[in-house]
Amino acid sequence: MNQWNKKSWREFPIKQQPTYPDQQQLQKIEQELSTYPPLVFAGEVESLKSKLAAATKGNAFLLQGGDCAESFADFNANNIRDSFKALLQMSVVLTFAGGCPVVKVGRLAGQFAKPRSSDFEEINGVKLPSYRGDIINAIGATKEERTPDPQRMLRAYNQSAATQNLLRAFAKGGLADLHNVHRWNVDFVENSPLKEKYEQLACQIEETLKFMKACGLDSARLPILKETSFYTSHEALLLNYEEALTREDSISGKMYDCSAHMLWIGDRTRALDEAHIEFLRGVQNPIGVKAGPTMTPDNLLSIIDKINPDNEAGRLNVIVRTGVDKVEDTLPALIRAVQREGKKILWSCDPMHGNTFKASSGFKTREFKNVLGEVKNFFAVHKAEGTHAGGIHLEMTGSDVTECVGGAKEIKEDALGDRYHTHCDPRLNADQALELAFLIADTLKEARK
Ligand code: PEP
Ligand code: CO
Repeated sequence: MNQWNKKSWREFPIKQQPTYPDQQQLQKIEQELSTYPPLVFAGEVESLKSKLAAATKGNAFLLQGGDCAESFADFNANNIRDSFKALLQMSVVLTFAGGCPVVKVGRLAGQFAKPRSSDFEEINGVKLPSYRGDIINAIGATKEERTPDPQRMLRAYNQSAATQNLLRAFAKGGLADLHNVHRWNVDFVENSPLKEKYEQLACQIEETLKFMKACGLDSARLPILKETSFYTSHEALLLNYEEALTREDSISGKMYDCSAHMLWIGDRTRALDEAHIEFLRGVQNPIGVKAGPTMTPDNLLSIIDKINPDNEAGRLNVIVRTGVDKVEDTLPALIRAVQREGKKILWSCDPMHGNTFKASSGFKTREFKNVLGEVKNFFAVHKAEGTHAGGIHLEMTGSDVTECVGGAKEIKEDALGDRYHTHCDPRLNADQALELAFLIADTLKEARK
């Protein structure tokens, strides 16, 4: 294999990148970014890796979720808080009802760049470059707005830093205190059938905490009751940005991509001899690889050899996203190849990206029942193969959006336009996400028996 360095990806074919009109300006900004402080630290990345190693062995469960695409326009404290609360709520359901420690990873604080199916799109008869995420261009329908602008990388970095800062404050500063379990309910779940179910569970937790306190075990003795670990992740798509945030850890001398704790490679950019695999093989972070229906066992084994040649548990997370109908046809062969070769893989399920369709109203959407169905099939296949269903990867938000149809509150296709706010793919709202958590908790409990 060639010698890796943080620029070696530049010698490889690459997909899904913007064409910046001004290369000099691009270089200037890359240079500037490379002097900025890292957003995460090597020690945190390693602690996530060890938790993912536990999930690989079936001793924890990965909950990864957040926006499809973060945006500059929707950047505010309430959105971050509500997504954080929705993830905490799901996590407590999975931990308490599912009986399994949960590793919380946000698709947050850096999830900006988007792969697109085509380089151009036609809007009102005008051909425009596709929107590639706020870190690259703007969503507006003019040529100016769609022209890639490297300054946007600086803005994305600053937004990520502020988001990361708030997430750290929420995780360690009191909001994540288990005594606050009732407060994690976001307002609009108030009128939902899920509210009562969650309240019941919150009361049980409250009772348990009271009992522990009576035994002398409170937050002063057990700081773990009042804080949590929350990690960040995004698709490492825009490699100019990722390279600029890649740093050598002064203690170990190893290289870390300090834009997030965990990075993943999308389904469209995972070709073996291309730039994304080349870049990510050289950084120490936990790496996710999306596996859509075209992933073959040989393909997967070659990717594993490149990304995780030392077979380190916690390094590689295969995120399966075949769509509800294809799990049973695709997943067993992948699992068997991995088992045969003795590879340590954390398997998680992205039940979103294989289940997207266009509603008659024109909105891109997903059916809640297909999302749930894919998760169920994923668990069933793992059970049959004797392997661990180790995690879930979701596009979701803490806001009251109407982007996916179905769920307990039954969002209908003709209501999608009410609050369809996503900049890219349709997300579960907090209500739907919570419902999914309860359903997964039951399956998880069953699987762990
Ligand atoms: C995504 O996670 O937003 C995404 C684009 O996924 P995939 O690469 O699986 O299509
Ligand atoms: Co998406």
